Amino acid sequence: MGRRKKNKGKGSKKQRAAEAAAKEAEANKLEEEAAKATATNTNNGFQGDPEDDPLGYFNIQIGPPGYIAAPPTTPKHVLVEGFKMMNPGGGEVLIDGCDLKLTHGSKYGLAGKNGSGKTTLLRNMKDYAIEDFPKHIRMLHVAQEQPRDESKVLDAVLNADEMRVQLEKEYERMEIYMEDCPDEEVQLCQLAIERLDELQGEINFDQGEKMAVKILTGLGFTPEMMQQTVCSLSGGWRMRVALAKALFVEPDYLLLDEPTNHLDFPTVLWLQQYLNRYEKTVIIVSHDRAFLNGVTTHIIHLHDQTLTYYKGNYDTFEVVREQELSRQQGEYDKCQLKIRTLEEFIKKYRDVANKKIKATSTEKGMEQRDSGQARARQVVQKKKRI
Ligand SMILES: Nc1ncnc2c1ncn2[C@@H]1O[C@H](COP(=O)(O)OP(=O)(O)O)[C@@H](O)[C@H]1O
Ligand SMILES: [Mg+2]
Repeated sequence: MGRRKKNKGKGSKKQRAAEAAAKEAEANKLEEEAAKATATNTNNGFQGDPEDDPLGYFNIQIGPPGYIAAPPTTPKHVLVEGFKMMNPGGGEVLIDGCDLKLTHGSKYGLAGKNGSGKTTLLRNMKDYAIEDFPKHIRMLHVAQEQPRDESKVLDAVLNADEMRVQLEKEYERMEIYMEDCPDEEVQLCQLAIERLDELQGEINFDQGEKMAVKILTGLGFTPEMMQQTVCSLSGGWRMRVALAKALFVEPDYLLLDEPTNHLDFPTVLWLQQYLNRYEKTVIIVSHDRAFLNGVTTHIIHLHDQTLTYYKGNYDTFEVVREQELSRQQGEYDKCQLKIRTLEEFIKKYRDVANKKIKATSTEKGMEQRDSGQARARQVVQKKKRI
């Protein structure tokens, strides 16, 4: 059943009374919500099979907008065929009719020139804005720029997992709802609770704070720094908080946009080792070649509005790409040579043909001139005879 963490307060009598009052208020709120749910969620507008999507049936949205929970055994590979991606600022096409193919567990480096659309692709994935992209894949995008955050470092990391908060709330709501729900819904309630339980298991619900502290320590935070506000930190440390949040959430697909920009060498190394052990999918955009080499198992090259897939790390990609380019150059050169030879051939024979035509026409001209003169002579002679 539930993996919710129980808070066993040891404070004063006054504190315990305050906690009890807060708990009661919370329970009342949940009951109100459950009552509201009773009125609104029974079959209300739900389309589909409730047994396949019991959370959907009870209007439970877990995770970011667009995410739809599925049983943990559902495969998390991606195959989107022929997708097109536009520039968010205007009508320019960034990717035109390509397949997006990702194998779960692989570590991808996303390479391409500045402005080719790497960040836009990661954002579109994270927002489930790509048609046919699986909705049960949980993603987290660590962007190059971090928004302002007034909360304390440790809290920011703990709260980063919106699913934890939602799961706890929905779990309690379902338990209360199940007590008074119509008989025909009891089984569906149980299914929904089971699904919530599975999701709690997937996100290491019990490990919470211990894990957050471990990650922050690995990224160089002292216990004092964990209590500082995020916005009081420099850009480099704010990036570390963003990374800590991502590593804490452990999404199925971790999307990292220039993660090493503000990091010192030991931290880059720590991150590299962490990602090597990470069993889920990672997609990295980075100019840090050594880091890419240390982490990636595949490179996706975004070039000429196309995605090309290469097995191996960045160095391997460069070698294969170089070979490909020189092969293409060789083919191009061969083609050019053929064209030139043909052109020369055509020119040569055109000249010969022209000369021949000229000669023929001169011959004809002379013939015509001769026959003309002969005819004239005949006419003169005829006239003389007359
Ligand atoms: N929010 C936005 N508004 C307008 N244009 C954008 C926005 N985001 C990206 N672009 C444009 O889309 C193109 C791709 O940008 P981006 O995905 O950031 O490329 P990359 O990450 O490969 O450097 C660029 O021409 C960029 O100017
Ligand atoms: Mg970018």
